[in-house]
Amino acid sequence: MRIGVLTGGGDCPGLNPVIRAIVRKAFNNQHEVIGFKNGWKGIIENDTIPLDLNAVSGILPKGGTILGTSRTNPYKKSDDVKKVIDTFKKNKLDCLIAIGGEDTLGVANKLAKDGVNVVGVPKTIDNDLSATDYTFGFDTAINIAMECIDRLHTTAESHHRIMVAEVMGRHAGWIATFAGIAGGADVVLIPEIPIDLDETCEILKKRHSRGRTFSIVVVAEGAQVKQSDMTKDQSLDEFGHVKLGGIGDLLAKEIEKRTGYETRVSVLGHIQRGGSPTAFDRILGTRFGIKAVELAENKDFGKMVSLSGTKIVAVPLEMGVATLKTVDMDLYGIAKEFFG
Ligand code: F6P
Repeated sequence: MRIGVLTGGGDCPGLNPVIRAIVRKAFNNQHEVIGFKNGWKGIIENDTIPLDLNAVSGILPKGGTILGTSRTNPYKKSDDVKKVIDTFKKNKLDCLIAIGGEDTLGVANKLAKDGVNVVGVPKTIDNDLSATDYTFGFDTAINIAMECIDRLHTTAESHHRIMVAEVMGRHAGWIATFAGIAGGADVVLIPEIPIDLDETCEILKKRHSRGRTFSIVVVAEGAQVKQSDMTKDQSLDEFGHVKLGGIGDLLAKEIEKRTGYETRVSVLGHIQRGGSPTAFDRILGTRFGIKAVELAENKDFGKMVSLSGTKIVAVPLEMGVATLKTVDMDLYGIAKEFFG
């Protein structure tokens, strides 16, 4: 078989373990693998690199993706879809493995419906893809965010300040909720629930009235203050997403104004996406890569690999992209037990 591989969307720790597992499994079963550079852009432009054992040697602990990535959307221009299909044929591919989040897998799903042999591998640090219990990259991101929250605690305590930590999470507050619980946040604010500034400040005032002199507020970048449209006029990427940023700043200013407590903000940003994957993400990525090759071998196209409990299974691509997986409110309830 000839298998093509691409990584699309935001990079994510664990992508290289997936690529390595695909290449190793393919080599064991006498298949050839070629990589397309920079997501869908590489397949539109037929920009390839050979993926042999040498190419994947030593990449297991490396963050990012050796293939490069982009947020190119071939369904933006009708000509580009034709180019994708031409490249598939030119390279005599039997299957394309697309590794990505909702956007990349959304394209993969459309291509599958257009008759292209595609298998998807779900990826995002945001953990907001449905039909899989976890995506790789998320565990690394929450460990980084937790460590940052630990560090913010000591400086907040020394200066008797409120520290606002803005974490990633465009539409869903998984990183904020998990890192908030793991890091002992005093308030966690997520996109699923509009921020009530009065309520937030009340929680902080109560905490300080019982003798605490510092607080940690974790906010997801996509969280919105009630009735605010502060992100509306920002530019969009090719998939129509607003480039976020600014909620942490706004929150810190409002909290300081309303409570009188000195407040600072720390925007963790892309630090959460960089660096070496955790053991969990390396293992999940490896298991996903192996399963993706098995699906290709079985001609089980139009599917996405997925973690269900402790098992790796295959689900239709459209299930993965149908709805966004938002934070489980029972879990958020656990974070809330520690507010104030
Ligand atoms: O989708 C993953 C993600 O890290 C989001 O959490 C974040 O909003 C976005 O990507 C940032 O995108 P970019 O790298 O294009 O700034």
